[in-house]
Amino acid sequence: MSQKTIIAPSVLSADFSRLGEEVEAVCEAGADWIHLDVMDGHFVPNITFGPPVIKAIRDRTDKVFDCHLMIEPAERFLGAFAVVGCNIITVHAEATTHLDRSLQAIRDLGCKAGVSLNPSTPETVIEYVLDRLDLILLMSVNPGFGGQDFIPSVIDKVARVRTMIGARPILIEIDGGVPPETAPLGADVLVAGSAVFKGGREAYAGNISALRTAADEPRFAALGSRRSWASNQKIVIDPSYI
Ligand code: DX5
Ligand code: ZN
Repeated sequence: MSQKTIIAPSVLSADFSRLGEEVEAVCEAGADWIHLDVMDGHFVPNITFGPPVIKAIRDRTDKVFDCHLMIEPAERFLGAFAVVGCNIITVHAEATTHLDRSLQAIRDLGCKAGVSLNPSTPETVIEYVLDRLDLILLMSVNPGFGGQDFIPSVIDKVARVRTMIGARPILIEIDGGVPPETAPLGADVLVAGSAVFKGGREAYAGNISALRTAADEPRFAALGSRRSWASNQKIVIDPSYI
């Protein structure tokens, strides 16, 4: 697990009419990566953007472009996302017949290879491709939209995936519904859209540091027990809680 939690704002919640400026603003506010939610209206019930938009914002920052492909099929488009400057390309295990080949193809393009699992997909589907992976994206919402509620069962999945990957240099990323009070424990990367982009540009830095504090504060580590999630309620983690 990397030392500092990586915060990857999802631009899905940004002001699309000023996307370039939004990318610059959230990077200045402390974002580590930029999370790009590509949706095709087929694999997920929403349509967002593709390579031309990513190309248009690539020179706004040198931060990592973390490209989450919620498209099916994905294989034929991997090169198009690599050539416009995506550093990480993540495909959904549920959206590809030949996951091993897709992951190899991503690495052959010079990008880091990621796989994403929907909340209901067991981690066993990736046990034979672990050595093809640089990142595992665990969905904590059903893909397609921002602003949804966090699905607590992903906390158990993080722990099981952590065990599964052992000492392999694979990052675990959690994506969706991650406002500070539910910043999950044990992930290396947190993706957040509405929790980062809420309140206007002057709020971005505070939103990002609140996420980072919630994820990194050692005292929160003691909250690893599932009990704190069993109620499936949004909890406000207070120091006196432990
Ligand atoms: C959902 C996307 C997520 C989403 C996160 O399909 O993969 O990245 O945009 O947005 P919030 O943080 O608002 O749930
Ligand atoms: Zn995403």
